Amino acid sequence: MRIDILTLFPSMFVPLVEESIIKRAIDKEIVTINLVNIRDFSELNNNQVDDTPYGGGGGMVIMCDPVFKAIESVKSDKSKVILMTPTGVVYNQSLAYDLSKEEHLIILCGHYEGFDERIKTFIDMEISIGDYVLTGGELPASIVADSIIRLIPGVISEESLKSESFTGGLLDYPVYTKPREYRGMKVPDVLLSGDHKKIDEYRKEERLRITKEKRPDILI
Ligand SMILES: C[S@@+](CC[C@H](N)C(=O)[O-])C[C@H]1O[C@@H](n2cnc3c(N)ncnc32)[C@H](O)[C@@H]1O
Repeated sequence: MRIDILTLFPSMFVPLVEESIIKRAIDKEIVTINLVNIRDFSELNNNQVDDTPYGGGGGMVIMCDPVFKAIESVKSDKSKVILMTPTGVVYNQSLAYDLSKEEHLIILCGHYEGFDERIKTFIDMEISIGDYVLTGGELPASIVADSIIRLIPGVISEESLKSESFTGGLLDYPVYTKPREYRGMKVPDVLLSGDHKKIDEYRKEERLRITKEKRPDILI
């Protein structure tokens, strides 16, 4: 998969691409992340990219021209163009799965008051990461890119993905590691039994119990 991220602040993606699982996916060439600075496409003095809103009101609005040109510089027939915006469809794991099957994503990050509405003629999907407003689209784009990349085959083990929260309408089961006892708290006996059938049953029951308790709304 290729992901082009269009932003005014490319350095905000350094932590995403230089650490952990996402870095390994890039190193293994499972995914390519290309950062495009929208400012590089400005043809105005001082690389201006925004201006005041028509009709008045606070904040600055990112102009069409540099955004159209930035998108055109990377778009092909196979691209899906995503706009990060609080007014989009609220993101979830099911959408992450769908997007992980795409060949090429272009993710557009806003800042300030947002974009000139006319850029939406270029957009295939508008995504919000939740009902709150952030300063810019860089953190939302990082969240979307991270959640998609880890679902691409070969990035993390199939085994880990199978029981992850939100898969099959359930939350994950609880996990423990050494030592067997810590400050009087013991690891459940079943996990030390070596009986894999019993362990599977215990984990299924725990997934159901925890989901009913914490997120009954996601139960299928
Ligand atoms: C300060 S926000 C603009 C908010 C906009 N004026 C509104 O009230 O809907 C600047 C940028 O941050 C990003 N952003 C902020 N909150 C977001 C969210 N919940 N989901 C996705 N993107 C968000 C978008 O790219 C947006 O263009």
